[in-house]
Amino acid sequence: MAVDLLLGLQWGDEGKGKIVDVLTKDYDIIARFQGGPNAGHTLEFDGIKHVLHTIPSGIFHKNAMNIVGNGVVIDPVIFKKELDALDAFNIDIKSKLLISRKAHLILPTHRLLDAASETSKGKAKIGSTLKGIGPTYMDKTGRNGMRIGDLELSNWKEKYRALANKHEAMIGFYNVDIQYDLKELESEFFNSIKLLKTLTFIDSEEYLYQAQKSGKKILAEGAQGSLLDIDFGTYPFVTSSNTTAAGACTGLGVAPNKIGDVKGIFKAYTTRVGSGPFPTELFDKDGETMGRVGNEFGATTGRPRRCGWLDLVALKYAVNVNGVTELMMMKGDVLSGFKKLKVCTAYKYKGETISHLPYNIESENVTPIYTEMKGWSEDLTKMTKVEELPATLIDYIDFLEKELEVPIKIVSVGPDRTQTIHR
Ligand code: IMP
Repeated sequence: MAVDLLLGLQWGDEGKGKIVDVLTKDYDIIARFQGGPNAGHTLEFDGIKHVLHTIPSGIFHKNAMNIVGNGVVIDPVIFKKELDALDAFNIDIKSKLLISRKAHLILPTHRLLDAASETSKGKAKIGSTLKGIGPTYMDKTGRNGMRIGDLELSNWKEKYRALANKHEAMIGFYNVDIQYDLKELESEFFNSIKLLKTLTFIDSEEYLYQAQKSGKKILAEGAQGSLLDIDFGTYPFVTSSNTTAAGACTGLGVAPNKIGDVKGIFKAYTTRVGSGPFPTELFDKDGETMGRVGNEFGATTGRPRRCGWLDLVALKYAVNVNGVTELMMMKGDVLSGFKKLKVCTAYKYKGETISHLPYNIESENVTPIYTEMKGWSEDLTKMTKVEELPATLIDYIDFLEKELEVPIKIVSVGPDRTQTIHR
């Protein structure tokens, strides 16, 4: 049985959590493959909004097993808060959530290193969520990291101490003023590890291999978006993992020839949180309207998201890099009321018109070229069938499908599970 993927195609925050939740009824296993608590996956149903950071978005369904894969980095402190928040909902977490022994641990000092690194960068800062993601992946690739499996060893605290001491020395090298009380941070960390250790740790690549063999349906859940990918994103303003399709192979141990559908999610416009290039960014009242109506604030940090028109050059790039087989368009409802919509179909770059994403998309190099389209004014949020959608929205969808050469299978018209139109 092939493993399907679900990926964000922009700069994150496309609505992956909602769609995984909608699709979970068709899957036996939901597996997160990269990123960490820098992600904020929002799900809404029965009038309640849930935000997950590390736990896969299938957790609310009885039928599905949820796996945190080896490519994920886990902060026990944030993980405990997530579990505590789920306490009220009567979910049998212990039987529904498995964690890869090979996933890496975020230490309190990783968070401090993140803060020190960002502070030292001044204006050139990445705009990191400061959750310690970069330093943890640095320790992973530097072959110094601590893994979940280490917690099963009797000497894990010694390993922890050696790494934390090294980090403290490194914080000193940055020569910035970072205030912290490590004793307090460690007490919270050790306390959270106690809870983490009550969960089941597995060799997830073997589990997933056997699951595939026995015909189980698996959905790999991505975090962040393709333009934040460490290799293919807008480097250095990216996260520290491979958010693209190949990341699911390395982050779960799934062979490339076992990948099935690649489901790509995008918003009907574009947002970005943090620093870095964003060619179609708006600084006018249209951008302000998108932010206000779309409630564009980071689910993890609460920071306002930058907003702009849909960028098809960037989206096409993401479709190609990931091999997307079907698309899902989110937040069309937010654009209701715009008389005209703009879609970027090419860039002016070094005096030429190009339709691919060049090496450098800083605004001084790239000017978007727009196609204008008619907007729609109807409230979409109560619509449940394709036939109800306004003709101008259908034109918008048709135009995107033609440009991207991939069908749009889901049109989401609101944050709730039920506000989802299948085509
Ligand atoms: P980090 O991964 O927390 O270090 O953040 C690096 C960059 O990725 C920053 O611009 C963040 O705002 C962005 N980022 C990280 N995670 C997310 C996410 O889940 N959604 C949107 N942006 C994110």
